[in-house]
Amino acid sequence: MQLEGKIAVVTGGSRGIGKAICLRLARMGAKVVVNYVSRPDAAEETVAAIKGAGGDAAAYQFNVSDTDQVQSAFKQIQKDFGRIDILVNNAGITRDGLVAMMKEQAWDEVLDTNLKGAFNCIKAVSRPMMKQRWGRIVSISSVIGFAGNAGQANYAAAKAGLTGLTRSVARELASRNVTVNGVAPGYIDTDMTKELPEEITEKIKAEIPMHSLGTVEDVAAAVTYLVSEEARYVTGQFIHVNGGMFMG
Ligand SMILES: NC(=O)c1ccc[n+]([C@@H]2O[C@H](COP(=O)([O-])OP(=O)(O)OC[C@H]3O[C@@H](n4cnc5c(N)ncnc54)[C@H](OP(=O)(O)O)[C@@H]3O)[C@@H](O)[C@H]2O)c1
Repeated sequence: MQLEGKIAVVTGGSRGIGKAICLRLARMGAKVVVNYVSRPDAAEETVAAIKGAGGDAAAYQFNVSDTDQVQSAFKQIQKDFGRIDILVNNAGITRDGLVAMMKEQAWDEVLDTNLKGAFNCIKAVSRPMMKQRWGRIVSISSVIGFAGNAGQANYAAAKAGLTGLTRSVARELASRNVTVNGVAPGYIDTDMTKELPEEITEKIKAEIPMHSLGTVEDVAAAVTYLVSEEARYVTGQFIHVNGGMFMG
């Protein structure tokens, strides 16, 4: 129970990778705030799974891209739990299309959720974490943010932006024992990748040295290392969890 007494907020914690992160942090003893935006049923299921396993969690609805919503949600979380020790910026969306055809709205939605959303949440926790002189911030990037991908210019730009955001904030908060890192998954078996046509998935698998998609637990394991006490001297880094697909 390494995280006994710690309070963790996981954005987009209701489904997929975020859900696995929530379950794992709870297993390590943290109280977990499971954020979601549109599906309360999924968030409540995740909370119930955590409680069923003897952990503690609560669901909070807010849209990470909405600055006002984020500010008031984090104020409420501070009030309800007294502190925030761990932030995992996991909420993310895709709106794929070739750049020549990409609508401005598809660009804006992805940048607003995947990059500005992380900024909003980091801003909300940075002062309290500095004051308490302990904190862990982990943002979920993607292999696409490092390698690029045709049809995902908006997603790649947002995820690459997370690298600059992470490294800059890591420098700002390092002296206060607040570490700021990222995890860059390759192709992971979730709702997001289930949307891909079967032949594309097979093609992707063939190109991955390990010839399979990753699991949500593979990603959650990297997050649990970065938020642990053992990782106290690791900051401004990205762990790539991608079966060898990209070696950055
Ligand atoms: N799956 C992959 O292969 C893969 C690979 C690399 C990186 N990633 C990254 O990993 C993260 C999780 O991906 P996933 O595949 O687990 O996604 P997912 O299954 O589609 O789940 C997305 C989660 O984010 C939440 N969310 C979406 N927009 C939000 C917003 N504006 N505010 C708050 N929450 C929001 C959703 O909540 P609701 O259900 O309430 O809408 C849901 O909980 C993303 O950042 C993604 O880019 C995924």
